[in-house]
Amino acid sequence: MQTASTTATQSACASAPGKVILFGEHAVVYGEPAVAAALSDLRIFVLVTTTNTQSLHVEMLDLPEPIDVRMDAERIVCSLESLQAPPTKACAERIRNLLVGFSNNDLNVEALTPLIYLIRQLLPVSMIQSGLDVRVRSRDLPLGAGLGSSAAFSVACAAALVKLASQSETLGRPDPMYFEQIDQYAFYSEILLHGTPSGIDNAVSARGGALLYTKKKDGDSQMESIPNLPDMHLMVVDTKVPRSTRELVAGVRALYDRHPSVIRPILQSMGEIATSFVKNGVSDVLTLVNVNHLLLRAVGVSHATLDEICETVARVAPNQAAAKLTGAGGGGCAFVLFRPDLEGREYVMQRISKSLQYKCFSSSVGGDGVLWLSPDKFPVTEEKDSSIWNERYSLLAATATVAALSWLLLRRSR
Ligand code: PMV
Repeated sequence: MQTASTTATQSACASAPGKVILFGEHAVVYGEPAVAAALSDLRIFVLVTTTNTQSLHVEMLDLPEPIDVRMDAERIVCSLESLQAPPTKACAERIRNLLVGFSNNDLNVEALTPLIYLIRQLLPVSMIQSGLDVRVRSRDLPLGAGLGSSAAFSVACAAALVKLASQSETLGRPDPMYFEQIDQYAFYSEILLHGTPSGIDNAVSARGGALLYTKKKDGDSQMESIPNLPDMHLMVVDTKVPRSTRELVAGVRALYDRHPSVIRPILQSMGEIATSFVKNGVSDVLTLVNVNHLLLRAVGVSHATLDEICETVARVAPNQAAAKLTGAGGGGCAFVLFRPDLEGREYVMQRISKSLQYKCFSSSVGGDGVLWLSPDKFPVTEEKDSSIWNERYSLLAATATVAALSWLLLRRSR
């Protein structure tokens, strides 16, 4: 690693996509295969800039509780020497203890812990000491809703920091020599966020496309890319019901520990669905979608809103479409899959979305994974500018209307 100049500022930018788990969420934690695909249009962007301010400024304005904090860089360097990789519980505790001194909001601490870990592990000390500005933005990706926003955050952060540390000039997919490091540290970040992640989310967010993913017993994983993902048309439905991946995964674990001989075959069955989809493609895919949702319901990770979505789709578009929850469940998102040879899909999509009271949007499946970008590709904060513009515009329009009315009244009274 090279050290940074203390005067000239440098920037590095990266983005990573969200993901949709088509089959096998939760079962994948127990070593069963699962299928996931990148949602390459829905991305998290990270921009890291050296500042010479001796402080770490972090801005994550898209979170429900937006983060805009400044922390003393020297304290981060001194208090967090020799952190473990992969991070242990004690390591997470050390970072949290330091953060509560800077911010007393639980949610902030949760989101900042992996970022601080990545900064401390991936950047040279001198670069941290000189000061950093870190900005995180999401583009259209619903946060904490089962579409892999935390993995996209982890991958994009690791990628931007590795680019800054290496001073690589590459744009697009990171150099292979850095790709493994990005994927590895994104997984460590996921451990801090979720406890016991299977690794499927960061794997697909980093690689893009679609994967058949199996977590091995030794902690390693086996990945098979699915190059010709059948022409799939997904509609995502966001219930906006908040939930915690960590708690849902822990809930399945508790159930499994109480009744292993009952729960194991259910999880194995989910793994069989994933393998069968890869082997047989889209033939009878609607049945696989329905059965997978019911199995997830059996292990207690569905939600009334998610079941309602599945039932509505079955009623409004029988044999034309099917729905299942995606990700950890308990709220968050479901997806609707259409029969591949269905004619008039747009019309069916409209009928379904009209029957549901939730936000629906269609998304392409597959596409680019992590990308190194030029810093000017970091999305600008449009909302504030446009609201200021709207305010000014409304004021201007109101003034013009009052002027026109006064002129008319004046003319009449003459
Ligand atoms: O809800 P998400 O996007 O965090 O996805 C979680 C997927 C699980 O299979 C439930 C957990 C895991 O680590 O694979």
